[in-house]
Amino acid sequence: MNRLLIEHTEGLYGRVSIQGAKNSALPILTATLLCDDVCVIENCPNLSDVDVTLDILSSLGAKVFKDRNNVTIDSSRANRHRISKSMMAKMRASILFLGAVASKMGEVELCLPGGCKLGPRPIDWHIEALSKMGLNVSCNCNGKLYCKVEEKFNGAEINLPLPSVGATENIILAAVLAKGKTIINNAAREPEICDLCDFLSKCGAKITGAGENQIEIVGVNKLCGTKHKVIPDRIVATTFLAATAMVGGNVKLENIVSEHIKIIIDILRQIGCTVNATFNTVQILSDKKLKAQGEVITEPYPGFPTDAQALFMAISTVSKGISVFVENIFKNRYKHVDELLKLGANIKALDRIAVVTGVKELRGNCLNAKDLRGAAALVIAAMTAKGSSILTGAEYLDRGYENFESNFKKLGAKIKRI
Ligand code: EPU
Repeated sequence: MNRLLIEHTEGLYGRVSIQGAKNSALPILTATLLCDDVCVIENCPNLSDVDVTLDILSSLGAKVFKDRNNVTIDSSRANRHRISKSMMAKMRASILFLGAVASKMGEVELCLPGGCKLGPRPIDWHIEALSKMGLNVSCNCNGKLYCKVEEKFNGAEINLPLPSVGATENIILAAVLAKGKTIINNAAREPEICDLCDFLSKCGAKITGAGENQIEIVGVNKLCGTKHKVIPDRIVATTFLAATAMVGGNVKLENIVSEHIKIIIDILRQIGCTVNATFNTVQILSDKKLKAQGEVITEPYPGFPTDAQALFMAISTVSKGISVFVENIFKNRYKHVDELLKLGANIKALDRIAVVTGVKELRGNCLNAKDLRGAAALVIAAMTAKGSSILTGAEYLDRGYENFESNFKKLGAKIKRI
Protein backbone atom coordinates (compact mmCIF):
# COMPACT_ATOMS: atom_id res chain seq x y z
CA MET A 1 0.00 0.00 0.00
CA ASN A 2 2.73 2.44 -0.85
CA ARG A 3 1.06 4.01 -3.85
CA LEU A 4 -1.36 6.90 -3.97
CA LEU A 5 -4.00 7.54 -6.59
CA ILE A 6 -4.46 11.29 -6.87
CA GLU A 7 -7.16 12.80 -9.03
CA HIS A 8 -7.71 16.38 -10.14
CA THR A 9 -9.14 18.28 -7.18
CA GLU A 10 -11.27 21.41 -7.71
CA GLY A 11 -10.51 23.08 -4.38
CA LEU A 12 -9.71 22.48 -0.69
CA TYR A 13 -12.18 23.72 1.93
CA GLY A 14 -12.45 23.34 5.70
CA ARG A 15 -10.34 23.26 8.84
CA VAL A 16 -7.36 21.19 9.82
CA SER A 17 -5.62 20.83 13.16
CA ILE A 18 -1.84 20.69 12.82
CA GLN A 19 0.04 17.73 14.32
CA GLY A 20 3.05 17.98 16.62
CA ALA A 21 6.39 18.65 14.95
CA LYS A 22 8.40 15.60 13.86
CA ASN A 23 11.69 17.48 14.12
CA SER A 24 10.88 18.51 17.70
CA ALA A 25 9.48 15.18 18.83
CA LEU A 26 12.53 13.17 17.68
CA PRO A 27 15.20 15.11 19.68
CA ILE A 28 12.89 15.49 22.69
CA LEU A 29 12.17 11.75 22.80
CA THR A 30 15.91 11.13 22.51
CA ALA A 31 16.54 13.58 25.35
CA THR A 32 14.22 11.64 27.69
CA LEU A 33 17.06 9.11 27.90
CA LEU A 34 18.96 11.63 30.04
CA CYS A 35 16.23 11.89 32.67
CA ASP A 36 16.22 9.86 35.87
CA ASP A 37 12.46 9.78 36.07
CA VAL A 38 9.28 9.40 33.98
CA CYS A 39 8.66 11.86 31.12
CA VAL A 40 5.32 12.33 29.38
CA ILE A 41 5.52 13.77 25.89
CA GLU A 42 2.20 15.07 24.59
CA ASN A 43 1.20 16.02 21.03
CA CYS A 44 3.71 13.51 19.76
CA PRO A 45 2.87 12.78 16.10
CA ASN A 46 2.11 9.22 15.00
CA LEU A 47 4.89 8.72 12.47
CA SER A 48 7.21 5.94 11.42
CA ASP A 49 10.25 8.03 12.49
CA VAL A 50 8.74 8.42 15.99
CA ASP A 51 8.26 4.64 16.16
CA VAL A 52 11.92 4.12 15.22
CA THR A 53 13.00 6.50 18.00
CA LEU A 54 10.82 4.65 20.52
CA ASP A 55 12.23 1.30 19.32
CA ILE A 56 15.76 2.62 19.88
CA LEU A 57 14.84 3.84 23.38
CA SER A 58 13.35 0.41 24.20
CA SER A 59 16.42 -1.36 22.84
CA LEU A 60 18.53 0.74 25.23
CA GLY A 61 16.43 -0.46 28.17
CA ALA A 62 13.92 2.39 28.56
CA LYS A 63 10.28 1.57 29.32
CA VAL A 64 8.10 3.11 26.63
CA PHE A 65 4.31 3.38 26.56
CA LYS A 66 2.47 5.03 23.67
CA ASP A 67 -1.19 6.02 23.84
CA ARG A 68 -2.17 7.79 20.61
CA ASN A 69 -0.33 11.13 20.78
CA ASN A 70 1.00 10.76 24.31
CA VAL A 71 4.19 8.88 25.02
CA THR A 72 5.40 7.95 28.50
CA ILE A 73 9.06 7.06 28.86
CA ASP A 74 10.94 5.86 31.89
CA SER A 75 14.66 5.81 31.15
CA SER A 76 15.79 5.41 34.77
CA ARG A 77 16.90 1.81 34.15
CA ALA A 78 18.19 2.22 30.59
CA ASN A 79 21.70 0.78 30.65
CA ARG A 80 22.57 -0.49 27.17
CA HIS A 81 24.85 1.41 24.81
CA ARG A 82 24.54 -0.42 21.44
CA ILE A 83 22.13 0.59 18.68
CA SER A 84 21.56 -1.83 15.82
CA LYS A 85 22.57 -0.94 12.28
CA SER A 86 19.03 -1.51 11.01
CA MET A 87 17.55 1.01 13.47
CA MET A 88 20.26 3.59 12.80
CA ALA A 89 19.72 3.26 9.05
CA LYS A 90 16.04 4.14 9.22
CA MET A 91 16.42 7.89 9.79
CA ARG A 92 18.89 10.73 10.12
CA ALA A 93 17.76 11.74 13.61
CA SER A 94 19.12 8.46 15.01
CA ILE A 95 22.52 10.22 15.19
CA LEU A 96 21.18 12.26 18.15
CA PHE A 97 21.62 9.13 20.24
CA LEU A 98 25.39 9.66 19.90
CA GLY A 99 25.39 12.56 22.38
CA ALA A 100 22.58 11.20 24.54
CA VAL A 101 23.85 7.61 24.98
CA ALA A 102 27.48 8.67 25.47
CA SER A 103 26.36 11.15 28.14
CA LYS A 104 24.17 8.64 29.97
CA MET A 105 26.22 5.42 29.66
CA GLY A 106 29.75 6.76 29.12
CA GLU A 107 30.03 4.77 25.90
CA VAL A 108 28.09 4.22 22.68
CA GLU A 109 28.27 1.88 19.72
CA LEU A 110 26.31 2.77 16.63
CA CYS A 111 26.42 3.09 12.84
CA LEU A 112 26.05 6.01 10.46
CA PRO A 113 22.47 7.27 10.26
CA GLY A 114 20.13 6.88 7.30
CA GLY A 115 17.38 9.30 6.28
CA CYS A 116 16.20 11.03 3.12
CA LYS A 117 18.93 11.19 0.49
CA LEU A 118 19.37 14.91 0.00
CA GLY A 119 23.04 14.75 -1.08
CA PRO A 120 25.94 14.07 1.28
CA ARG A 121 24.87 14.34 4.93
CA PRO A 122 28.09 13.94 6.91
CA ILE A 123 28.27 13.96 10.72
CA ASP A 124 31.74 15.52 10.96
CA TRP A 125 30.56 18.59 12.90
CA HIS A 126 28.78 16.34 15.43
CA ILE A 127 31.94 14.27 15.95
CA GLU A 128 34.29 17.27 16.08
CA ALA A 129 32.14 19.08 18.64
CA LEU A 130 31.61 16.04 20.88
CA SER A 131 35.32 15.14 20.62
CA LYS A 132 36.15 18.63 21.90
CA MET A 133 33.84 17.81 24.83
CA GLY A 134 35.70 14.59 25.61
CA LEU A 135 34.29 11.94 23.26
CA ASN A 136 36.97 9.41 22.32
CA VAL A 137 36.21 7.76 19.01
CA SER A 138 38.15 4.50 19.14
CA CYS A 139 36.67 2.97 16.01
CA ASN A 140 35.27 4.85 13.03
CA CYS A 141 35.38 2.31 10.22
CA ASN A 142 32.95 0.62 7.80
CA GLY A 143 30.21 2.98 8.90
CA LYS A 144 30.59 1.85 12.55
CA LEU A 145 31.40 4.10 15.46
CA TYR A 146 32.54 3.07 18.92
CA CYS A 147 32.99 5.96 21.33
CA LYS A 148 33.73 6.42 25.02
CA VAL A 149 33.63 9.33 27.42
CA GLU A 150 35.93 9.46 30.45
CA GLU A 151 33.45 9.73 33.31
CA LYS A 152 31.50 12.75 31.93
CA PHE A 153 31.49 15.15 28.97
CA ASN A 154 33.37 18.40 29.60
CA GLY A 155 31.94 21.77 28.77
CA ALA A 156 33.66 23.46 25.79
CA GLU A 157 33.30 26.37 23.41
CA ILE A 158 32.11 25.07 20.03
CA ASN A 159 32.12 27.12 16.84
CA LEU A 160 29.88 25.48 14.27
CA PRO A 161 30.89 26.14 10.62
CA LEU A 162 27.17 26.51 9.78
CA PRO A 163 24.12 26.49 12.05
CA SER A 164 23.47 22.75 11.72
CA VAL A 165 20.21 21.67 13.38
CA GLY A 166 21.37 18.14 14.23
CA ALA A 167 24.85 19.16 15.43
CA THR A 168 23.34 21.88 17.68
CA GLU A 169 20.96 19.29 19.16
CA ASN A 170 23.69 16.69 19.71
CA ILE A 171 25.89 19.23 21.49
CA ILE A 172 22.96 20.30 23.70
CA LEU A 173 22.27 16.65 24.59
CA ALA A 174 25.91 16.13 25.53
CA ALA A 175 26.22 19.44 27.40
CA VAL A 176 23.23 19.36 29.76
CA LEU A 177 24.89 16.78 32.07
CA ALA A 178 28.50 17.80 31.30
CA LYS A 179 31.08 19.16 33.73
CA GLY A 180 31.09 22.94 33.35
CA LYS A 181 29.87 25.35 30.73
CA THR A 182 29.35 24.78 26.99
CA ILE A 183 28.97 27.63 24.53
CA ILE A 184 27.66 26.93 21.01
CA ASN A 185 28.53 29.72 18.57
CA ASN A 186 26.65 29.83 15.26
CA ALA A 187 23.95 27.60 16.76
CA ALA A 188 20.83 26.69 14.79
CA ARG A 189 17.86 28.91 15.73
CA GLU A 190 14.95 26.73 14.54
CA PRO A 191 11.80 26.58 16.73
CA GLU A 192 12.53 22.86 17.20
CA ILE A 193 15.81 23.78 18.96
CA CYS A 194 13.84 26.05 21.32
CA ASP A 195 11.36 23.25 21.98
CA LEU A 196 14.16 20.82 22.88
CA CYS A 197 15.67 23.44 25.22
CA ASP A 198 12.26 24.15 26.79
CA PHE A 199 11.81 20.46 27.50
CA LEU A 200 15.31 20.08 28.97
CA SER A 201 14.91 23.25 31.07
CA LYS A 202 11.73 21.80 32.59
CA CYS A 203 13.82 18.74 33.50
CA GLY A 204 16.28 20.98 35.35
CA ALA A 205 18.84 21.79 32.63
CA LYS A 206 20.47 25.24 32.65
CA ILE A 207 20.26 26.62 29.12
CA THR A 208 20.20 30.23 27.92
CA GLY A 209 20.09 31.68 24.41
CA ALA A 210 17.90 29.07 22.66
CA GLY A 211 16.58 30.65 19.45
CA GLU A 212 19.66 32.92 19.25
CA ASN A 213 22.94 32.19 17.55
CA GLN A 214 24.83 31.66 20.80
CA ILE A 215 23.54 29.05 23.25
CA GLU A 216 25.08 28.64 26.69
CA ILE A 217 24.59 25.48 28.73
CA VAL A 218 25.82 24.93 32.28
CA GLY A 219 25.93 21.21 33.05
CA VAL A 220 23.88 19.89 36.00
CA ASN A 221 24.25 16.62 37.93
CA LYS A 222 20.88 15.19 37.16
CA LEU A 223 17.71 15.77 35.14
CA CYS A 224 14.27 14.93 36.50
CA GLY A 225 11.17 13.80 34.62
CA THR A 226 8.56 16.20 33.29
CA LYS A 227 5.49 16.59 31.08
CA HIS A 228 5.93 18.43 27.79
CA LYS A 229 3.75 19.26 24.79
CA VAL A 230 5.52 19.20 21.41
CA ILE A 231 5.13 22.38 19.30
CA PRO A 232 3.05 22.28 16.10
CA ASP A 233 4.74 21.19 12.88
CA ARG A 234 5.50 24.27 10.77
CA ILE A 235 6.31 22.20 7.67
CA VAL A 236 3.04 20.25 7.86
CA ALA A 237 1.26 23.62 8.22
CA THR A 238 3.21 24.88 5.21
CA THR A 239 2.12 21.81 3.24
CA PHE A 240 -1.60 22.55 3.75
CA LEU A 241 -1.05 26.21 2.90
CA ALA A 242 0.91 25.37 -0.25
CA ALA A 243 -1.72 22.84 -1.32
CA THR A 244 -4.57 25.34 -0.89
CA ALA A 245 -2.61 28.06 -2.71
CA MET A 246 -2.05 25.74 -5.66
CA VAL A 247 -5.36 23.84 -5.78
CA GLY A 248 -7.49 26.83 -4.72
CA GLY A 249 -10.03 27.07 -1.88
CA ASN A 250 -10.40 28.30 1.67
CA VAL A 251 -8.69 26.42 4.51
CA LYS A 252 -8.16 27.33 8.15
CA LEU A 253 -5.24 25.83 10.05
CA GLU A 254 -5.67 25.43 13.80
CA ASN A 255 -3.17 24.67 16.56
CA ILE A 256 -0.19 26.28 14.94
CA VAL A 257 2.26 29.03 15.88
CA SER A 258 1.88 31.50 13.01
CA GLU A 259 5.13 33.26 13.96
CA HIS A 260 7.03 30.08 12.97
CA ILE A 261 5.81 30.37 9.38
CA LYS A 262 5.99 34.13 8.99
CA ILE A 263 8.19 33.91 5.89
CA ILE A 264 5.79 31.40 4.28
CA ILE A 265 2.79 33.65 4.96
CA ASP A 266 4.62 36.65 3.47
CA ILE A 267 5.39 34.79 0.23
CA LEU A 268 1.85 33.40 -0.09
CA ARG A 269 0.51 36.96 0.16
CA GLN A 270 3.04 38.21 -2.40
CA ILE A 271 1.98 35.61 -4.95
CA GLY A 272 -1.71 36.48 -4.66
CA CYS A 273 -3.28 34.50 -1.80
CA THR A 274 -5.25 36.08 1.02
CA VAL A 275 -3.86 34.97 4.36
CA ASN A 276 -5.39 35.91 7.73
CA ALA A 277 -3.24 34.99 10.71
CA THR A 278 -3.79 35.10 14.46
CA PHE A 279 -1.30 33.84 17.05
CA ASN A 280 -2.39 30.19 16.62
CA THR A 281 -4.52 30.03 13.45
CA VAL A 282 -3.94 30.80 9.79
CA GLN A 283 -6.64 30.99 7.14
CA ILE A 284 -5.74 30.93 3.45
CA LEU A 285 -7.97 31.79 0.48
CA SER A 286 -6.75 31.19 -3.05
CA ASP A 287 -8.38 31.66 -6.45
CA LYS A 288 -5.42 29.88 -8.12
CA LYS A 289 -4.40 33.05 -9.99
CA LEU A 290 -0.85 33.00 -8.68
CA LYS A 291 2.15 35.17 -9.53
CA ALA A 292 5.69 33.81 -9.74
CA GLN A 293 7.75 33.93 -6.56
CA GLY A 294 10.81 35.76 -7.91
CA GLU A 295 13.87 34.40 -6.09
CA VAL A 296 13.46 31.77 -3.35
CA ILE A 297 16.67 31.11 -1.43
CA THR A 298 16.71 28.41 1.24
CA GLU A 299 18.43 29.45 4.46
CA PRO A 300 18.62 28.46 8.12
CA TYR A 301 15.70 29.72 10.27
CA PRO A 302 14.31 32.39 10.18
CA GLY A 303 15.07 32.27 6.43
CA PHE A 304 13.05 30.29 3.89
CA PRO A 305 13.13 26.61 5.00
CA THR A 306 14.72 24.00 2.77
CA ASP A 307 11.89 21.66 3.84
CA ALA A 308 9.43 23.97 2.02
CA GLN A 309 11.46 24.30 -1.18
CA ALA A 310 9.83 21.40 -3.06
CA LEU A 311 6.33 22.58 -2.05
CA PHE A 312 6.93 26.10 -3.31
CA MET A 313 8.53 24.78 -6.49
CA ALA A 314 5.33 22.82 -7.11
CA ILE A 315 3.33 26.07 -6.73
CA SER A 316 5.64 27.91 -9.12
CA THR A 317 5.03 25.37 -11.91
CA VAL A 318 1.56 26.90 -12.46
CA SER A 319 2.27 30.49 -11.34
CA LYS A 320 2.47 33.28 -13.92
CA GLY A 321 6.08 34.20 -14.68
CA ILE A 322 9.53 32.94 -13.72
CA SER A 323 10.62 31.78 -10.24
CA VAL A 324 14.23 31.04 -9.36
CA PHE A 325 15.12 28.63 -6.55
CA VAL A 326 18.52 28.50 -4.86
CA GLU A 327 18.95 25.47 -2.56
CA ASN A 328 21.64 26.48 -0.09
CA ILE A 329 21.23 23.87 2.62
CA PHE A 330 21.45 20.51 0.84
CA LYS A 331 23.48 19.64 -2.27
CA ASN A 332 20.92 17.38 -3.92
CA ARG A 333 17.41 18.36 -2.95
CA TYR A 334 15.90 18.60 -6.43
CA LYS A 335 14.81 14.98 -6.91
CA HIS A 336 11.23 16.17 -7.36
CA VAL A 337 12.22 18.15 -10.48
CA ASP A 338 12.21 15.19 -12.91
CA GLU A 339 8.82 14.12 -11.58
CA LEU A 340 7.33 17.62 -11.91
CA LEU A 341 8.60 17.61 -15.52
CA LYS A 342 6.54 14.46 -16.12
CA LEU A 343 3.45 16.50 -15.17
CA GLY A 344 4.34 19.05 -17.86
CA ALA A 345 6.21 21.60 -15.72
CA ASN A 346 8.89 23.81 -17.26
CA ILE A 347 11.97 23.63 -14.99
CA LYS A 348 15.67 23.96 -15.73
CA ALA A 349 17.80 22.81 -12.83
CA LEU A 350 21.58 22.88 -12.52
CA ASP A 351 23.44 22.21 -9.28
CA ARG A 352 21.78 24.36 -6.61
CA ILE A 353 19.70 26.53 -8.95
CA ALA A 354 16.34 25.77 -10.55
CA VAL A 355 14.50 28.14 -12.88
CA VAL A 356 10.78 27.50 -13.17
CA THR A 357 8.58 29.07 -15.84
CA GLY A 358 4.91 28.74 -14.98
CA VAL A 359 2.73 26.76 -17.42
CA LYS A 360 -1.06 26.95 -17.91
CA GLU A 361 -1.79 23.50 -16.57
CA LEU A 362 -0.22 20.22 -15.46
CA ARG A 363 -1.35 16.78 -16.66
CA GLY A 364 -1.49 13.65 -14.49
CA ASN A 365 1.20 10.98 -14.83
CA CYS A 366 2.98 8.16 -12.95
CA LEU A 367 5.29 9.69 -10.36
CA ASN A 368 7.96 8.36 -8.06
CA ALA A 369 8.65 10.07 -4.72
CA LYS A 370 12.25 9.93 -3.53
CA ASP A 371 12.09 11.84 -0.26
CA LEU A 372 9.58 13.06 2.33
CA ARG A 373 8.99 16.70 1.37
CA GLY A 374 9.41 15.94 -2.34
CA ALA A 375 6.60 13.39 -1.98
CA ALA A 376 4.27 16.02 -0.46
CA ALA A 377 5.13 18.45 -3.27
CA LEU A 378 4.30 15.83 -5.91
CA VAL A 379 0.94 15.13 -4.27
CA ILE A 380 -0.13 18.77 -4.34
CA ALA A 381 1.08 19.15 -7.93
CA ALA A 382 -0.87 16.01 -8.89
CA MET A 383 -4.04 17.39 -7.23
CA THR A 384 -3.78 20.41 -9.52
CA ALA A 385 -3.02 18.37 -12.64
CA LYS A 386 -5.76 17.42 -15.08
CA GLY A 387 -6.67 13.72 -14.93
CA SER A 388 -5.20 11.28 -12.47
CA SER A 389 -1.71 10.45 -11.21
CA ILE A 390 -0.22 7.50 -9.40
CA LEU A 391 2.56 8.18 -6.91
CA THR A 392 4.89 5.42 -5.77
CA GLY A 393 7.09 5.91 -2.69
CA ALA A 394 4.15 7.10 -0.58
CA GLU A 395 5.82 5.51 2.47
CA TYR A 396 8.02 8.62 2.66
CA LEU A 397 4.91 10.59 3.67
CA ASP A 398 4.44 8.33 6.71
CA ARG A 399 7.77 9.54 8.06
CA GLY A 400 6.50 13.09 8.46
CA TYR A 401 2.73 13.37 8.04
CA GLU A 402 0.13 11.93 10.39
CA ASN A 403 -3.07 10.83 8.56
CA PHE A 404 -1.87 12.44 5.34
CA GLU A 405 -4.60 11.16 3.00
CA SER A 406 -7.50 11.39 5.45
CA ASN A 407 -6.66 14.99 6.39
CA PHE A 408 -6.52 15.98 2.73
CA LYS A 409 -9.67 13.98 1.93
CA LYS A 410 -11.59 15.87 4.64
CA LEU A 411 -10.68 19.08 2.81
CA GLY A 412 -12.01 17.67 -0.48
CA ALA A 413 -8.91 16.18 -2.07
CA LYS A 414 -9.41 13.16 -4.31
CA ILE A 415 -6.67 10.96 -3.00
CA LYS A 416 -6.44 7.35 -1.85
CA ARG A 417 -3.82 4.73 -1.07
CA ILE A 418 -3.92 1.78 -3.46
N1 EPU B 1 26.31 19.17 7.66
C1 EPU B 1 27.63 18.80 7.55
N2 EPU B 1 28.22 18.16 8.60
C2 EPU B 1 27.56 17.88 9.74
C3 EPU B 1 26.20 18.25 9.87
C4 EPU B 1 25.59 18.90 8.79
O1 EPU B 1 28.26 19.04 6.51
O2 EPU B 1 28.16 17.28 10.65
C5 EPU B 1 25.63 19.83 6.53
C6 EPU B 1 24.55 18.94 5.92
O3 EPU B 1 25.11 18.00 5.02
C7 EPU B 1 23.64 19.93 5.27
C8 EPU B 1 23.73 21.14 6.20
O4 EPU B 1 24.92 20.96 6.98
O5 EPU B 1 24.13 20.26 3.99
C9 EPU B 1 22.56 21.34 7.13
O6 EPU B 1 22.29 20.14 7.83
P1 EPU B 1 21.62 20.10 9.28
O7 EPU B 1 22.57 19.43 10.18
O8 EPU B 1 21.12 21.45 9.67
O9 EPU B 1 20.35 19.18 8.99
P2 EPU B 1 19.88 17.88 9.78
O10 EPU B 1 20.01 18.11 11.23
O11 EPU B 1 20.46 16.70 9.16
C10 EPU B 1 17.43 18.79 10.05
C11 EPU B 1 16.05 18.26 9.75
C12 EPU B 1 15.83 18.28 8.25
C13 EPU B 1 15.97 19.72 7.76
C14 EPU B 1 17.36 20.26 8.14
C15 EPU B 1 17.57 21.71 7.79
C16 EPU B 1 15.65 16.72 11.53
C17 EPU B 1 15.46 15.30 11.96
N3 EPU B 1 15.94 16.90 10.25
O12 EPU B 1 18.33 17.90 9.40
O13 EPU B 1 14.48 17.86 8.05
O14 EPU B 1 15.85 19.75 6.36
O15 EPU B 1 17.54 20.13 9.57
O16 EPU B 1 16.58 22.51 8.34
O17 EPU B 1 15.51 17.62 12.35
C18 EPU B 1 12.73 16.78 6.92
O18 EPU B 1 12.05 16.93 7.95
O19 EPU B 1 12.25 16.36 5.83
C19 EPU B 1 14.17 17.07 6.97
C20 EPU B 1 15.01 16.65 6.03
